[in-house]
Amino acid sequence: MVGEHQTHHHNMLVSLALLLAAAFGLWVFFQIQRPKNFPPGPPPIPLFGNLLEIQLDNPIADLERLAKRYGNVYGLFLGSRPAVVIHGVSALKRALVNKSADFSDRAEDLFVRHAAHTKAQAPGVVLSPYNSGWREHRRFTLMTLRNFGLGKQSMEDRILGETRRVMEFLEQSDGEPINPETLFHKAASNIIFQVLFAKRFDNEDDSMKFFTNFFRETSKIINGPWSLLYDSFPAVRYLPLPFKRGFEMFKMSHERYLEMFVETKKTRVPGKPRHFVDAYLDELEKRGDEAFFSEDQLCAIILDLHFAGTDTTANTLLSGLLYLMKYPHIQEYCQQEIDKVMQGKNEVSFEDRVQMPYVQAVIHEIQRTANTVPLSVFHCTTRDTELMGYSIPKGTLIIPNLSSVLNEKGQWKSSHEFNPENFLNENGEFVQPEAFMPFSTGPRVCLGEGLARMELFIILVSLLRKFRFIWPEDAEEPDLTPVFGVTQTPKPYSLKVQVRSRC
Ligand code: HEM
Ligand SMILES: *[C@@H]1O[C@H](CO)[C@@H](O)[C@H](O)[C@H]1NC(C)=O
Ligand SMILES: *[C@@H]1O[C@H](CO)[C@@H](O)[C@H](O)[C@H]1NC(C)=O
Repeated sequence: MVGEHQTHHHNMLVSLALLLAAAFGLWVFFQIQRPKNFPPGPPPIPLFGNLLEIQLDNPIADLERLAKRYGNVYGLFLGSRPAVVIHGVSALKRALVNKSADFSDRAEDLFVRHAAHTKAQAPGVVLSPYNSGWREHRRFTLMTLRNFGLGKQSMEDRILGETRRVMEFLEQSDGEPINPETLFHKAASNIIFQVLFAKRFDNEDDSMKFFTNFFRETSKIINGPWSLLYDSFPAVRYLPLPFKRGFEMFKMSHERYLEMFVETKKTRVPGKPRHFVDAYLDELEKRGDEAFFSEDQLCAIILDLHFAGTDTTANTLLSGLLYLMKYPHIQEYCQQEIDKVMQGKNEVSFEDRVQMPYVQAVIHEIQRTANTVPLSVFHCTTRDTELMGYSIPKGTLIIPNLSSVLNEKGQWKSSHEFNPENFLNENGEFVQPEAFMPFSTGPRVCLGEGLARMELFIILVSLLRKFRFIWPEDAEEPDLTPVFGVTQTPKPYSLKVQVRSRC
């Protein structure tokens, strides 16, 4: 009886020892090697890296703590994947501008890439590796945007047309509180869609509803907790976790784009482009079987431009109205300037901005505080390189912290409050500080910057000219904390409008 007990005891010890040995083995196996002279950062835990230290659904506070502790360039491990976060205008410029050849790649093996573009040879523009295919497509896209009206009257007309529809909607609210959540998504989506397909959707159209939801949902999935898990642990990718929803939505979007593509191709006349898609097909025929251009690549770019061109502008405008209601005296000051410059004019034009330094300052301040793309689109190193004395190996994920630049102490007259003085000199003239980088910087800088600036100006000036925006009396105080994602969104709110009497 006693002997049996002892054997049992003995067996248990052996099992325990084996278990410990196995755990130790796994620990060693998953040990994360810090590359030599890698930027400082919290020590990674085997397998998990630093993920356990970060609150995944809203990492901002935790990452801020790390940045305070480790400085402007710090290293992190997402699982075993090394990443470097870059803060502040000086480090960021040095990496993205001065060493752009080393810092302008995109990582291949990420949720966003797998979900958005399933074909390896058709990576689009936004997520394309830094190579000749990207360069040729970027150049072609910029040129074609220009040919279809950027910097000309025709683009202004498209923007004004969509703005009129927004104004009709607001006017119908008749002083009742309304929810503006999708208002600007619809406008921005239609503007870019008219460039792509010479087509627009009515608000109640099924495609409009689909795309609006698609952008709003997926921009919260990208860089959110589930996509960070996906990026960190290849093993979880096959599990039915919420990132599957992202895959599904991208797939549905592809089907819709493909349908429209096939449809518009039927009526195409070669050499007579009606829109971006036609122009691309002309280019494809001109180039023959040159590898970079393909119909798959065209479909990828349609998604890129539609997505990047909608959610960003729309969320910036949503934040803008929120700030203008929170600071009614700033809103009023804009209106005075607008009334003065627009006297006797029917519609605003982008050129009018030179006469509106205050409005310009306010729009820039909206972009600074809205912080719409807080961590840019992640970059990646093309080769082993060096930054601020640290070594960064090829293939390291680079996280440009644009948010840190837009709030950087020493770069702004007042970095922590909404204050248009940040963009005005002592003579009341508009100035743009170096740290204004909501569009990022370097060769990957936002390709739609020109269009976005035109949209923000024309839409905001038209709206402010016609309406006073009022925070509903019975609502709680405006909450300015954004909801995190690859693009940030203000918390849901309602607004009231009053038609201004003028002239
Ligand atoms: C307020 C509006 C916008 C903001 C704040 C914004 C911001 C950004 C940022 C931060 C990036 C990443 C740059 C980098 O990787 O370093 C980017 C890239 C890009 N944006 Fe925008 N964007 C806006 C509007 C637009 C519009 C209207 C378009 C459509 C034409 C557009 C098209 C693109 C494209 C194609 C890229 C990828 C560029 C590349 O990888 O070479 N964006 N944008
Ligand atoms: C980026 O900088 C901002 C402001 O300094 C900070 O709140 C945020 O946590 C930082 N994000 C990362 C990823 O380090
Ligand atoms: C980046 O390059 C510019 C021009 O080549 C130079 O003036 C500047 O000092 C460099 N900046 C840094 C941070 O190295």
